[in-house]
Amino acid sequence: MALPFSQLETIFKRNRQALNEFKDMITPVIENAKDDHERLYWHHIYEEEDHRHDRLDHLLPALQSFNENDSSIQPYNSEFVHLLQDISLEKFGLHNFLEHLDLSLYTFNDTELEEPIRSLRDMTSADYQETKTILDQLNEEFKGSLQYKASVPTDEKENINENLKVEAYTSTDNEAETTFSNKRQLTVGSLKK
Ligand SMILES: [Fe+2]
Repeated sequence: MALPFSQLETIFKRNRQALNEFKDMITPVIENAKDDHERLYWHHIYEEEDHRHDRLDHLLPALQSFNENDSSIQPYNSEFVHLLQDISLEKFGLHNFLEHLDLSLYTFNDTELEEPIRSLRDMTSADYQETKTILDQLNEEFKGSLQYKASVPTDEKENINENLKVEAYTSTDNEAETTFSNKRQLTVGSLKK
């Protein structure tokens, strides 16, 4: 059976690089924050991404070793079940990164950081959608091993107050997210005027 673990390895490697770029972009923002609110805001985002970097440093070698030895890919191998749990949590990590990038765009709209952040944002959005598809496939393949509520963003949960959800993140359609990007640009622009 062809399993998509090497695809996941590619996605998470690319994303680790992306979050490093993002951390470098916001470091001077934290250093030059004009008040405690601004400093805490960016520190919070930085810290979550830094933490995620540590998790990816742990996940990627494991993913690589399963890729090199696929006989260990069995639903009853506890290390493999752990790997599935970690992948599932990093799906949420991608979603969270996407929200951090969108938050950043509100701040850096019309600055030199807008374009690099937007390109990280669009790449992350595509990677998130692909990871979701891969996890659905793994769910199908390893029924029962992979049902973790912790990896489902609030926006995608059923039985939750609809007013808490952000429309852009409830869609599984990339095109809808691009539309949101354009709409948001207008909103932020009009706020500035
Ligand atoms: Fe956060």
